[in-house]
Amino acid sequence: MLKGIRLLYLLATCLIVSCASEPTPRACAANNAASLRDAAQGCSLSIGAAVDAKSLRSDAMYKQTLSREFNAVTPENAMKWATVHPTRDKYDFTDADAIVDFATENKMLVHGHTLVWHNSLPTWVSAGSFSRDELIAILRDHITTVVGRYRGRVAAWDVVNEALNDDGSPRQSIWASRIGPDYIEMAFRWAHEADPQAKLFYNEDKAESMETKSNAVYNLVKNLKSRGVPIDGVGLQSHVTTDSAPKLQDVTSNMNRFAELGLEVDITEMEVRLKLPSSPEDLNAQARVYRDMLTACLSVKQCKVFVMWGFTDKYSSVPSIFPGNGAALIYNESYQPKPAYKALADLMNRR
Ligand code: G3I
Repeated sequence: MLKGIRLLYLLATCLIVSCASEPTPRACAANNAASLRDAAQGCSLSIGAAVDAKSLRSDAMYKQTLSREFNAVTPENAMKWATVHPTRDKYDFTDADAIVDFATENKMLVHGHTLVWHNSLPTWVSAGSFSRDELIAILRDHITTVVGRYRGRVAAWDVVNEALNDDGSPRQSIWASRIGPDYIEMAFRWAHEADPQAKLFYNEDKAESMETKSNAVYNLVKNLKSRGVPIDGVGLQSHVTTDSAPKLQDVTSNMNRFAELGLEVDITEMEVRLKLPSSPEDLNAQARVYRDMLTACLSVKQCKVFVMWGFTDKYSSVPSIFPGNGAALIYNESYQPKPAYKALADLMNRR
């Protein structure tokens, strides 16, 4: 008898706890929308993809699919330092302009990527022997020029990207080692001066879940907020595999704690890479990961943008970064929607 009561009590507790913390995606207005972008609008969400300027120029299907399905873009490489500022006295905005113009024509939000990063630096910066003051002046000029050029046209910026190591310690990039930890605050302040309306983000990899690294991101942005640094949001990149994907519950809890700091918290670079060749089961498992991450986003009011790191496997950077892996995006190489596409569409087409 006592055993029975104890069992019942345990069952009731489990039910209450899991029901109370089950993420509930916000209501969406669309039903059977013709595209992801139409469906997303009904969920007060912008849905986007990283964009490659070369493909936009050369591949009509790429351009057509992008404008039909998405209402947000992030330049994959076109706004990185090595591209826009290849030599000390020369800026080259050819690719960045092409993407921003395309986005403007198609009423898409632009998420600028990225102002301060340890990677994709031109050698004049990475191998330069500048004093602290010189490097500060160089960084300030870069941020002011790039953000200033797109003032009013780029809605948000990844001001600082991947400043932490996977164990949560500060990454010893050229910026941290030559300027010191203050470079982060300086970058946000200069970006804000250059475009006071743009939303300013800290963007990080492997910080989706409740773990050491996301704790470090949390402490970093909390500290910035508490000192009045103009930061508006955190970007959770989400480059995952079906095995390493974080749990829905953990992502939601993590997003909620950033939201409680008064920050927007967006998914900024999602993709789910598979070992090649992929099987139908792999594609279904991949679809579940996409669905879970979008469920987390739709469960947190402050998650307003969901961006994938490309949309067609034809141009994904995954195979070159993770040899033997690929098929990471929601369209295959021939622009056929995969199960992941349907999973996202179904989730946004329910009321
Ligand atoms: O543009 C040159 C091209 O002219 C040349 O023919 C070719 C030969 O290798 O290289 C081209 O540049 C490459 C560029 O991708 C475009 O393909 C760079 O070498 C290569 O380093 C660059 O890789 C990018 C990487 O960031 C480094 O910037 C990937 O495309 C891009 O997907 C990746 O994106 C990063 C995010 O910015 C930050 N978070 C992680 C994410 C994935 O690694």
